[in-house]
Amino acid sequence: MRERVKVSTPGKLMLLGEHAVVYGRPCLVTAVDQRMKVIGEKVRGSGITINAPDVGIHNFEYKPGDEDVPKGVRFVVAALKNFGWQGGLKITTASEFSSEFGFGSSSAVTVGVLKCLSELSEAKFDNKRLFDLAYKSVLDVQGVGSGFDLAAAIWGGTLGFVTGGKKIEPLKTKKLPLVVGYTGIKADTTTLVKMVSQKREGSRKIVEEMFDRVELLVNEAKVGLEEGNWEQVGGLMNENQKELEMLEVSSIELFRLITAAREAGAWGAKLSGAGGGDCMIALTDNPKGISKAIAKAGGIVINVSSGAEGVRVER
Ligand code: MEV
Repeated sequence: MRERVKVSTPGKLMLLGEHAVVYGRPCLVTAVDQRMKVIGEKVRGSGITINAPDVGIHNFEYKPGDEDVPKGVRFVVAALKNFGWQGGLKITTASEFSSEFGFGSSSAVTVGVLKCLSELSEAKFDNKRLFDLAYKSVLDVQGVGSGFDLAAAIWGGTLGFVTGGKKIEPLKTKKLPLVVGYTGIKADTTTLVKMVSQKREGSRKIVEEMFDRVELLVNEAKVGLEEGNWEQVGGLMNENQKELEMLEVSSIELFRLITAAREAGAWGAKLSGAGGGDCMIALTDNPKGISKAIAKAGGIVINVSSGAEGVRVER
């Protein structure tokens, strides 16, 4: 049995279908090559110590049963509880990407911790079991979410995904010609998801029709991605952005970067994730020109590659 294990999980970028995927529709997501590292180490006794320096957690002593834990360790604790971990343990997390970007750091941590625990106990979960436990852990903490980010962290690559993991379909795609621009503003996903939920309560028919249109865009884009028809996918991204603007989840900052990318000749550009801030993505055959335009419009260009490997044990 292992005494110490190090795993890593990729971050993610939503390509198309955000928000609609919370309501039974499909989305497209890609894993990115900036990773979250999690080290799990068995220690003597029954104490559990958590270190997550990226989010200001240093030697936090978790007492099983303790409900009142700092924000930075909530996903680790939910994963420990759902796994039913017993015994002394030290958990350390370290990310290659900022938790501000919306790359899915909470999901990546949750998957990483569960993978460590399964390796340390030789439980050897398959991907679906890992997904189900991770999804339960995330819902325990934030109450809402489709789980698409967990699927990206586990399977990696580029995926078609339906709410709650009803469908997880690895797609055959080449590396996407993506440029990513960060607005400098951290979005609050839970607040935005709840806002959309209220909007849907108030105007059910209008919002459901919007989600139906997004579903069609996602299905078309899935074919376009597999065929490498970037121009077509770019156009569909623009259409998806229109729907997101009507849903009022975009922002001035996102609009500025998206417009700059399009005016500089990108095939398409849209927000990626919950909206309200975080990142936008553009598809382009001119990454240098588009990056320059995004930077000029006040964005921070983040260099990532799509289709990264899913969760893995590091040797
Ligand atoms: C957030 O990154 C994407 C949403 O669709 C929420 C989710 O799918 O969990 C808004």
